[in-house]
Amino acid sequence: MFYSVLVTAALAVNAAATPFNTHVVHERRHGPAHGWTKRSRLQENAILPMRVGLKQSNLDRGYEYINDVSHPTSPNFGKHWSAKQIAEAFAPSEETVKAVKTWLAEAGFDDARVKLSQGLNWLEFNATVPQAEDLLKTRYNVYEHKSNGQPHVACESYSLPAHVQPHVDFITPTVHFDAKVEPVKSKRQLRKRQSAQANKPARVVKPGSWTGWLPKLGRMLPSRKSIIKELENCDEQIVPDCLRALYSFPQNTSANSENSYGIVEYTPEAYVPSDLDLFFANFSPAQVGDRPNPTDLIDGAVNQQTNKSFDFNGESDLDLEYALTLVYPQPVTLYQVGDLVEGASFNTFLDAIDGSYCTFEGGDDPTQDPTYPDTLPGGYTGPENCGGFAATKVISTSYGYNEADLTPFYEQRQCAEYMKLGLAGTTILYSSGDYGVAGNGNECIASNGSFINGDLGGTFNPSFPGTCPYVTSVGATQVKNNTNILTDLASGTEPEQACETVIFSGGGFSNVFPLPDYQADAVNSYLTNYPPPYGADKYNNSGTVRAIPDVSANGANYVIAIDGEFGLVYGTSASSPTFGSVITLINGQRFDAGKSSVGFLNPTLYANSSVLNDITEGDNPGCATSGFQAQPGWDPVTGLGTPNYPKLLELFLSLP
Ligand SMILES: *[C@@H]1O[C@H](CO)[C@@H](O)[C@H](O)[C@H]1NC(C)=O
Ligand SMILES: *[C@@H]1O[C@H](CO)[C@@H](O)[C@H](O)[C@H]1NC(C)=O
Ligand SMILES: *[C@@H]1O[C@H](CO)[C@@H](O)[C@H](O)[C@H]1NC(C)=O
Ligand SMILES: *[C@@H]1O[C@H](CO)[C@@H](O)[C@H](O)[C@H]1NC(C)=O
Ligand SMILES: *[C@@H]1O[C@H](CO)[C@@H](O)[C@H](O)[C@H]1NC(C)=O
Ligand SMILES: *[C@@H]1O[C@H](CO)[C@@H](O)[C@H](O)[C@H]1NC(C)=O
Ligand SMILES: *[C@@H]1O[C@H](CO)[C@@H](O)[C@H](O)[C@H]1NC(C)=O
Repeated sequence: MFYSVLVTAALAVNAAATPFNTHVVHERRHGPAHGWTKRSRLQENAILPMRVGLKQSNLDRGYEYINDVSHPTSPNFGKHWSAKQIAEAFAPSEETVKAVKTWLAEAGFDDARVKLSQGLNWLEFNATVPQAEDLLKTRYNVYEHKSNGQPHVACESYSLPAHVQPHVDFITPTVHFDAKVEPVKSKRQLRKRQSAQANKPARVVKPGSWTGWLPKLGRMLPSRKSIIKELENCDEQIVPDCLRALYSFPQNTSANSENSYGIVEYTPEAYVPSDLDLFFANFSPAQVGDRPNPTDLIDGAVNQQTNKSFDFNGESDLDLEYALTLVYPQPVTLYQVGDLVEGASFNTFLDAIDGSYCTFEGGDDPTQDPTYPDTLPGGYTGPENCGGFAATKVISTSYGYNEADLTPFYEQRQCAEYMKLGLAGTTILYSSGDYGVAGNGNECIASNGSFINGDLGGTFNPSFPGTCPYVTSVGATQVKNNTNILTDLASGTEPEQACETVIFSGGGFSNVFPLPDYQADAVNSYLTNYPPPYGADKYNNSGTVRAIPDVSANGANYVIAIDGEFGLVYGTSASSPTFGSVITLINGQRFDAGKSSVGFLNPTLYANSSVLNDITEGDNPGCATSGFQAQPGWDPVTGLGTPNYPKLLELFLSLP
């Protein structure tokens, strides 16, 4: 952004003597960002719109706050917070506001000229260049972008008085170059390099800039006649009625206008409207013509129909065919995120449903997130969507990263946002990954930190955002081969095991997040009763870290309509939307009873684990090991188990 030069009356600032302040460097960059050249000093009569980001308070109390509205024994269960309450709870302390305001007043910027932002986390004031330079002990320059000549005002470092520094996140405009100029995301370059190092054959990567996972296509069905709808054959093909039978959830519940189910998709992944109709015609005829409503298009998103293939349509078709059918007639909201050029990250989505996240802790990270407006040719040039889109009460996402793809600070910042969404009453579900204990694309972590093909060994590679303790991570099960679920259900035998067909359920232990209390007993029972035969060189076995998944649902042999035909698909990509559908139906019945949404699930599910069907067979191999074993109780393969709707309903209707 370039600050126009206003030749106005000079801003009056007392030339008060600066008190004895020891200044310390707060931020520094070494030379201009890549692609920018320093042109000249900034003209002295330019006016700089200064913004001081204040340190938030109480983030360390997030766990306590969310537990208060999510633990089944809490009298405040279900009393979710408003956006205003959330903003106020985490707003900078009075001490912080006072320390920064006093410093500014001493420098001549009195209270009348300094405004506190609506989100309560920024102080804003206008300063001339000499005033800002004196305040921050710096020099402002104009930089020019090498390819398009775009100007940008920045400095190379700035300083704050030592006693003020602890209260400040950062100040703009200063050292930041927030315009995105790299045509390829650095994460992708990193991954390419890592793949090259491992000397791997080219693997199928998702089109566009997204590095997450897609469901796996098993085989196409030769004709519509080869679809099997009989419940006796749910071990061969999963259709909506199989899921209803396995988890005992109803069909055609009455729609409640408060209810909403959100499915997130990242461009260029797109659903094909005629595929939805083909699916409905076969499995839910009343829904032919039904579409996600609304479709929220975020940051120039399009539901592109130019390129069609399993890689472009598999995820969206799967998610929406099942979500729309299973929760019908409850509405489904599609959040389609990112333009065709840059694509998007989870942060792009979170910014759109919570405007305060755009600036929280310095905002998104341009080295790890796309930046909007998109400066690339053909990109979305409108303003970034900060807020403006409502969060549904359940949000399922079937995309993910390896935890090791991102920096811990980046993950902690995003995780705090999931905590805030949970406080506001939204259930956040992510698939746990499809490579067992290995990461995306069957990669594990070598001792030097780079990724290697899991067949060569390496350390287990868990997925993010599942490892954020405020997310419900969903693993995959399958009906056991040669099993008639009707016989098993009638005799009270569990018909499912961990998914071992085409994909393996993602599961394991975080290298970033500590063990949340709600999970402590479950995880330590597993480690004590069924100690895995691996040391700390394979995973963090200390019993003090967050473990995933939390729950599971079927993820094998799903019949989907894809590009005009039917095929069978596999993955936790199927499990998460199915689990979310069940929770959406529970919410509907709570709304009917005059109650709130269920919100953050984990404290209740771990405290009342009998509402899930315990899965005790199967494992999740990877990194040249057989992974972990499913066992009685929680395990790092299938979590607490699959949904048992009547028991879930009874429990959640018994809570306030
Ligand atoms: C800074 O100046 C601009 C332009 O005159 C004005 O719109 C804005 O409100 C001022 N900001 C503050 C914090 O006073
Ligand atoms: C659900 O509703 C549709 C459309 O009204 C109807 O055709 C179908 O038979 C109903 N199914 C059940 C199980 O009630
Ligand atoms: C679609 O395919 C064309 C031709 O292969 C390619 O140029 C274009 O980038 C693709 N579009 C998307 C959204 O990936
Ligand atoms: C890291 O270790 C792996 C496996 O030992 C090896 O293949 C790779 O070349 C190493 N990479 C670097 C940068 O040392
Ligand atoms: C189930 O059968 C399929 C197809 O024959 C096979 O690929 C898969 O490995 C079997 N899974 C298990 C858990 O035995
Ligand atoms: C395991 O996690 C704990 C808690 O974060 C940490 O102190 C420990 O260093 C980790 N162990 C390894 C081997 O990384
Ligand atoms: C759920 O768990 C809580 C805490 O252990 C317990 O007090 C409550 O009775 C349980 N509810 C049901 C329905 O089992």
